[in-house]
Amino acid sequence: MSRNILATSIYILIFVILQEQANGALHGTTKKLVDEANKNGPYLGLIIPNMFEMNPLLSNPHYNPSKLVIDYAGTRFRFGKIYKKPVILVMSGMGMVNSAVATQLLLSLFEIKGVIHYGIAGNANPNLNIGDVTIAQYWSHSAMWNWQRHGNGPEDPLPFEGEGGFTREIGYLKFGAYSSNGDNDNLLNNVWYQAEEVYPVDSTPEQTQLAFWIPVDSNYFSLSKALEKLKLENCVNATTCLSTPPKVTTVQRGTSANIYLDNAAYRGFLYNKFNISPVEMESAGVALTCYQQKVPFITFRALSDLAGGGSATSNEADTFSGLTANNSVLVTVEFIKLLGGYDRKMLNYVR
Ligand SMILES: *[C@@H]1O[C@H](CO)[C@@H](O)[C@H](O)[C@H]1NC(C)=O
Ligand SMILES: *[C@@H]1O[C@H](CO)[C@@H](O)[C@H](O)[C@H]1NC(C)=O
Repeated sequence: MSRNILATSIYILIFVILQEQANGALHGTTKKLVDEANKNGPYLGLIIPNMFEMNPLLSNPHYNPSKLVIDYAGTRFRFGKIYKKPVILVMSGMGMVNSAVATQLLLSLFEIKGVIHYGIAGNANPNLNIGDVTIAQYWSHSAMWNWQRHGNGPEDPLPFEGEGGFTREIGYLKFGAYSSNGDNDNLLNNVWYQAEEVYPVDSTPEQTQLAFWIPVDSNYFSLSKALEKLKLENCVNATTCLSTPPKVTTVQRGTSANIYLDNAAYRGFLYNKFNISPVEMESAGVALTCYQQKVPFITFRALSDLAGGGSATSNEADTFSGLTANNSVLVTVEFIKLLGGYDRKMLNYVR
């Protein structure tokens, strides 16, 4: 009998230990590590879509890794310094859910004073070239749609319109306008772009607000204009170079969706309708999370191809994607260097 109780207790103990490793609520060893880490904060959080884009940072001479790595809820947090500034690196994985989850975990667990997101992107802006690194002032999630029934048009209200819900103010895509035989009608009719429902940390919970264009932090954005002078890598090796030397450029808008965009007609629509340059799958998740948590953020996205094809070089994304990822890291590291000078200036100003 008592032996059974002992056995049961051991089972319970093992179960508790396994529970801890399964990372539900934060406790035990992980909580201790997080508390320790926060003593060395506040940090800059770097959110990176995948290893392809993280590796060039891990091998960058200005990245100084510490021994600390914390794994929690399927996410790895790597600690280090860049130009003496404490940083946490997180690989989010692809798509809006992953990027939002990674951002929220980062902000909930750690003392974070700003978030930098970087990576490669498709390009919708015909005036830019492969390899250019874009810094967009606004980001949106462009796959929150109200899909209008066939037969209705721009003059017809949408279902649930005007009750704080759906709107015709942002704009719509008319499938009929893109038929290859010139027929202006299409059973797919129109999709209307919709704002996200947001719940900012400084507002009343459960009271819905709407947001479509999310601005990056205005101080980060002004500071980042100095990066336009930065010289980027141009060549993969001695013989293979980009035909136009790449540049860093601020642009008005970028957009994200859980859509890998490789379609020239839609790319053209996004550029003409919304003046969008980088198109990708994560920034809006980071933007919407930071916006709600009132944490400054900025995104650096290097253009790896003209989404949907175009000139000869634009189809050479495979050849240049390594170079492009490297350049997004170069810009990120340089920005953190600038941020050091900026913080010092702010300090002097306050004194
Ligand atoms: C990118 O950077 C890594 C080092 O971080 C280097 O080994 C690699 O050759 C670079 N790739 C290109 C295409 O420049
Ligand atoms: C340079 O890179 C290109 C594209 O990856 C490759 O085809 C070529 O063989 C390389 N040249 C040298 C000299 O390594």
